[in-house]
Amino acid sequence: MDSIIPFVIEILGGALRGKSSRIALRSAVETNKLNREEESALYYLVFEILRRLNVIDLYIKTSTSSYSLKKISSDNRAILRIATYLMKIENKDIEFVNNLLSSHFEQFSESNFLTILDLIQSVSEEQLYENRNDLASNLSIEYFTPTWIVRKFLSQWGVETTKKILPSFQQNLHLYVRINTIKANLEEILRIFHLNDISYSIVEEIENLVRIEENEIPIPQLEAFKEGKILIQQKASALVSLVLDPQEDDEILDMCASPGGKTSHIAALLKNKGKIVAVDMNDERVKILKDRMNLLGIKLVRIIQTDARELHRKIETRFDKILLDPPCSGSGTYSSRPENKWRMNQRDLGWYVNLQKDLLNEAAVLLKTGGSIVYSTCSLFHEENHSVILDFLQENSNFKLVETTPMVGVTSKILNEKTQELYPHIHETEGFFIAKIQKE
Ligand SMILES: C[S@@+](CC[C@H](N)C(=O)[O-])C[C@H]1O[C@@H](n2cnc3c(N)ncnc32)[C@H](O)[C@@H]1O
Repeated sequence: MDSIIPFVIEILGGALRGKSSRIALRSAVETNKLNREEESALYYLVFEILRRLNVIDLYIKTSTSSYSLKKISSDNRAILRIATYLMKIENKDIEFVNNLLSSHFEQFSESNFLTILDLIQSVSEEQLYENRNDLASNLSIEYFTPTWIVRKFLSQWGVETTKKILPSFQQNLHLYVRINTIKANLEEILRIFHLNDISYSIVEEIENLVRIEENEIPIPQLEAFKEGKILIQQKASALVSLVLDPQEDDEILDMCASPGGKTSHIAALLKNKGKIVAVDMNDERVKILKDRMNLLGIKLVRIIQTDARELHRKIETRFDKILLDPPCSGSGTYSSRPENKWRMNQRDLGWYVNLQKDLLNEAAVLLKTGGSIVYSTCSLFHEENHSVILDFLQENSNFKLVETTPMVGVTSKILNEKTQELYPHIHETEGFFIAKIQKE
């Protein structure tokens, strides 16, 4: 484990400063040519710590009041978190932890590492609970999730469902691979999987999507991936473009397009013939989108970098089908992006909701009569999903909800069984919401 500690320290620090742990992990593995064993240990430790951060930090705070987390360097903070995880969650003894980590720890103020470890070790679970009588606080510690999120889930679904969803954030999701039918076909890719000892199962509900069961070689290292013949895409995300149901003579708009998972799927469904306008506001992400379209051999996409809320001022075109996959809390992705749980608070959620509403209003302006908008998020919060749609329908009586087919998820009474939701604990994919509305 020794050899991976410097990478864990760096990735934990980066993840809490806003970097993606997934991207940092992949880059650490590739740049440092880590072997398979080191790679799995690195992924395991980073994810386990990020998933349990509230409880880990509670142990540290309760035991080291004078070394409040804020006062120490980000590397030392990461080391304390690793130490606490190993001692309190994995039950490793203090000597093991001290031997493993003390050489990385920069001394600060009057204390040494072993004293701090001793203090952390002495805190019992009992002392962690601020309010034993509050259900949300208890669930927050039991399932390693911020209390405000637990409260929201409890008010949306009640105790039973909340208790089914929360544990799914601690589990790894299956990886799914979509065949880019512009460059390859299913048979060719399955042959490559056999040759590389990759076991898989075919996803019946979504054509050209395969679930990876076991793989010795990481998917991004396959030539087929590097050549753009396959891409990694969650099952829920691959469903969205099917619901849009693109046809060759449709004018199609993807309003928040990068990194292009759904744009490229729409292009493949259209067999690279037709018209797609793909918009994204962010410089770096537009570059990623352009590179990805090139790699995947996609020719029918016109990429526009702009704030999509202003798009009607920039282009004359009005569209038959619009996909709106706006920025969201990502609360459906806490399993694969555990750092997101700790990054935002309730105020941030309000910011997302306002942006989602503004984007949806703009989509309505850009849509032709008779056209439809597919609205999707990887969020589990009703505020970003059902409420955005309900408010929109109340203000726009010329729009109606239509069925979201194919139906893979579950429907909800809140929106007359017309929308669909996917849940990690039921559908083995990220949490997702999909609605389709039509302009009459
Ligand atoms: C959820 S991601 C989209 C994922 C994408 N649909 C896919 O399937 O790969 C949201 C994207 O919206 C972009 N974005 C945020 N605000 C925007 C705005 N006002 N106008 C256009 N794009 C925006 C972000 O840069 C980000 O790339």
